[in-house]
Amino acid sequence: MEPTIKIAPSLLACDFSRLGEEVAAVEKAGADMLHLDIMDGHFVPNLSFGIPVVKSLRRHTRLLFDAHLMISHPLAYIEAFAVAGADMITFHLEANDDPEKVIGEIRRQGCKAALSIKPNTPAEAALPYVEQVDMALVMTVEPGFGGQRFMDEMLPKIEAIRKAAPGLDIQVDGGIDISTAPLACAAGANILVAGTSIFGQPGYSQAIKELRDTAEAAFAPHHVEL
Ligand code: DX5
Ligand code: ZN
Repeated sequence: MEPTIKIAPSLLACDFSRLGEEVAAVEKAGADMLHLDIMDGHFVPNLSFGIPVVKSLRRHTRLLFDAHLMISHPLAYIEAFAVAGADMITFHLEANDDPEKVIGEIRRQGCKAALSIKPNTPAEAALPYVEQVDMALVMTVEPGFGGQRFMDEMLPKIEAIRKAAPGLDIQVDGGIDISTAPLACAAGANILVAGTSIFGQPGYSQAIKELRDTAEAAFAPHHVEL
């Protein structure tokens, strides 16, 4: 199937004291999936939230849960995230567990599998796995913190993966807003993670619609070439 634009709000930028309401609000505002940033203070120099939070959120929304595991030893935690309610599990190539084993375990737990690469990892490192995963995530900032500046230098990596895998979902994460989304989508990305540019706005529906409109306009020409 040909990729379509999807908007994935990242909860990292939401009001954590009202997590359930925030999730329900972005669902109502038209989000396609929810991006859950899991950090361990080891793989990245920051902490966020973990398994019990994912489990509690599960009953507040029907949105697809994508757990972005910014953790060392992802293999050890896949079952727990799947049981907590993750529908898709995104792991990092740099986490050093055998990617094929991680993908196999994610599937064994009944989830979709996605592979992510950090800014210093070349696209070529991900290419051997693109046939085996449901989605590739090209980080457009160093993982660990919201609100960072989008790295233009990542655009050729998106192009390289799109060229190798025309039908694959390609996600971008970090610094995505209405000025950077068109760049990422013109390069071939079709799933946009956005924290600050959604939760930092007064109206979530408006923010999601604007992102989607600019993304679709930029992805369309690319789409025709497929
Ligand atoms: C960064 C996280 C991102 C982050 C994006 O490590 O993976 O998902 O929340 O935040 P913004 O959209 O604010 O750059
Ligand atoms: Zn993320």
